[in-house]
Amino acid sequence: MTNLPTYTQSGQTVTFDFATNLQLTVLTASIIHVFSDRGEPGASYAIEGDKQQPTAFTVTNQGDHYDLTTAALTVHLDAAGHLDVDDAAGHPLITAYRGDRQLIDKGVDKVHQRLVEAEGHSISGATVEDDRGYQVIEALASDEQLYGLGDKPGYLNKRGYEYDNWNSDIPDAHLETFTKLYKSIPVLLGLKNGHPYGLFFDNPYRSHFDLGKESAHYYFYSAVAGNLDYYVLGGASLKAIVTNYTYLTGRTPLPQKWTLGYQQSRWGYSASQREVQEVADELEKNDLPCDAIHFDVDYMRGYRVFTWDQQKYPSGPGQFIAQLKRRGIRVIPIIDPGVKQDPNYAVYETGVKNGYFVKSPDGKLYINQVWPGNAAFPDFGRPAVRDWWAHNVKFLTDLGVAGIWNDMNEPASFKGPIPDDVVFSDQDRPATHQKMHNVYGHNMARATYAGLKAQQGKRPFVITRAAYAGTQKYSTVWTGDNQSIWPHVQLLIPQLCTLGLSGFSFVGTDIGGFGADTTPELLTRWIEAGLFSPLFRNHAAMGTRHQEPWVFGEPTLSIYRKYLKLRYRFVPYLYDLFAQETQTGLPPMRPLVLNDDQDPRNREINDEYMVGETVLVAPVVQQGQTKRLVYLPRGEWIDFWNNREYAGHQDIVADAPLAKLPLFVQKNTLLPWGPAVSHISDQPDTTMTFRLFGDHGIYDHYQDNGTDFKYQAGEWNGYHIVVDHDQVIVTLTHHGYAAAYATIRVALADRVVTLTYQPATQTYVEQV
Ligand code: GLC
Repeated sequence: MTNLPTYTQSGQTVTFDFATNLQLTVLTASIIHVFSDRGEPGASYAIEGDKQQPTAFTVTNQGDHYDLTTAALTVHLDAAGHLDVDDAAGHPLITAYRGDRQLIDKGVDKVHQRLVEAEGHSISGATVEDDRGYQVIEALASDEQLYGLGDKPGYLNKRGYEYDNWNSDIPDAHLETFTKLYKSIPVLLGLKNGHPYGLFFDNPYRSHFDLGKESAHYYFYSAVAGNLDYYVLGGASLKAIVTNYTYLTGRTPLPQKWTLGYQQSRWGYSASQREVQEVADELEKNDLPCDAIHFDVDYMRGYRVFTWDQQKYPSGPGQFIAQLKRRGIRVIPIIDPGVKQDPNYAVYETGVKNGYFVKSPDGKLYINQVWPGNAAFPDFGRPAVRDWWAHNVKFLTDLGVAGIWNDMNEPASFKGPIPDDVVFSDQDRPATHQKMHNVYGHNMARATYAGLKAQQGKRPFVITRAAYAGTQKYSTVWTGDNQSIWPHVQLLIPQLCTLGLSGFSFVGTDIGGFGADTTPELLTRWIEAGLFSPLFRNHAAMGTRHQEPWVFGEPTLSIYRKYLKLRYRFVPYLYDLFAQETQTGLPPMRPLVLNDDQDPRNREINDEYMVGETVLVAPVVQQGQTKRLVYLPRGEWIDFWNNREYAGHQDIVADAPLAKLPLFVQKNTLLPWGPAVSHISDQPDTTMTFRLFGDHGIYDHYQDNGTDFKYQAGEWNGYHIVVDHDQVIVTLTHHGYAAAYATIRVALADRVVTLTYQPATQTYVEQV
């Protein structure tokens, strides 16, 4: 038996004297950092600031291993370097796999592999063990589910599949065969024999997860380079794991309230003022609530970012944007990273002059192609470049835009992939594309956020396609180029829920599908299925069949309208959930397993989701289906449409004709019920309504001005509402925002109770 290595302790860091030093740092009782220096300089992009809290722990020599113990976790480390983690009750969470990997024998030799590949097929999985970099192999229990990893397509439980982290723009239909998409969010959440844990691998280099595909006995993470740098996350529930993970990497900040409204988009609209005008007119004419129209690449002058083609906008863009704003519609323009190579274009010229673009290893400017043809790529890893980009944002905010949509920032390139050795910066240190690729979109979104914040003083609304762990602090995300196919309305549920488990709360898909032609039925089921996705945008590719709510006539238009109006009723609830999310990291849209990870049925549900704790959504995601099986979790449930009551923990058959989204509310729930509006106003609401489902309910409601950062200085109101049969009590628990509601209405089963605000006593009194 080998001897245990010695160790040294400095503060909360314990360094074990293996050939390569292994450091364990206790950040909190539930978060332990595992680090082995493999010579990679630089700091984390995901984690900002010092997350270490004074925490008691012990290190004890157990003869054949050490135990490092906090109040929540015990790490066992043996002489061979095996690292196992148990929870405080001794349940194994993470167990190093003691055997060797067993590669899958696909039965192909090199000659046949070439033959298969000649027709365009690929052979996935390792056929030889990758000897670059390192790997971390953990044992799998037979009862173990694996979740997380961001936007990876497929199902909620990712066990049995393999994934790559290399941000990629791949135009084919995203299906469970895809190993990678636009985002790299290397956080894994597990339930081992029902005991929750998390593992976050903070390494931006290309990395790989095999989650029990190669073998039912283990899963592994490998990276081609970088330090061994990961975090063990403990907690009493999956919720606690998400809370701990978002403590580490940050949370989605409170959004502006209007960003929760409906948004309309299509690649092509912005090519002319007339076309956008028509969209706004149709929305109004058809009584369709909407808060924003997105301007895709067509508004620019020859795809030059931070320009606006005045020719296409006879009123001038500023005037036109102001006109739309007066009608309640805000403008979100797209900005891509590629800067057109054109010596007569100021953004390009300034970038070249200051050396702000990435370079080939020979020191020359690196050029690839995107929409504008030849383009240079800003070196977003450098603080000076981010500052410059943030300053460029002023061009758009001066015109009055309400937010910015960042795209193509994997970065995508049309003339072959950017070579690994192109010189990018890691802060001010020269690094490579290989290292900076996966954080490129993150740094671009961060620069955009800083620009909007400085220019507008409001809560920035950024949307990004590419992201890394932690991007949620700066930006919302959408899932990129999906298609108008039924598998993609199905996918939105596990994919958005998975993003939520991975720290990204403000998420959405292109409603109706981006590529391919939608059908009226698919569009209808999509607006129903995506009803509670925080980012609520219909978007389509140029050249596809139009899919605005009115183009298919009836009944599509009426059903679509009904759901848009319903969405606006739920906006105050979503906003409350975001206020809570800033404290807990728990996403408003979430999988059933997050609310109750102890019910085994919840662990594999891919066709239902929850909104907060009390709203259950069971959309139809199959063509032609008009009834579906709904699993009702523990508790009692009320059918939103007819008030019928059901016991939970059972499957029911729900009727779901085309116009009906099966929707259930937990019995004895009180929900805020927004006003029927066509746009979300920046003016304070004077009245708020709450709706009771059942006989009694308690609710905490949050109110602020919905736009800026004053809430951080205490300018917000908290309301505690208690309803017990006929009795309604409203307490203003925090009064920092002057515009407290003048009236509060509570809708009971048989009557509406109205309470009015008494400024002298700061109380709400029932009117009789
Ligand atoms: C990319 C985006 C898509 C956008 C298009 C044109 O494909 O993902 O949303 O419409 O580029 O800018």
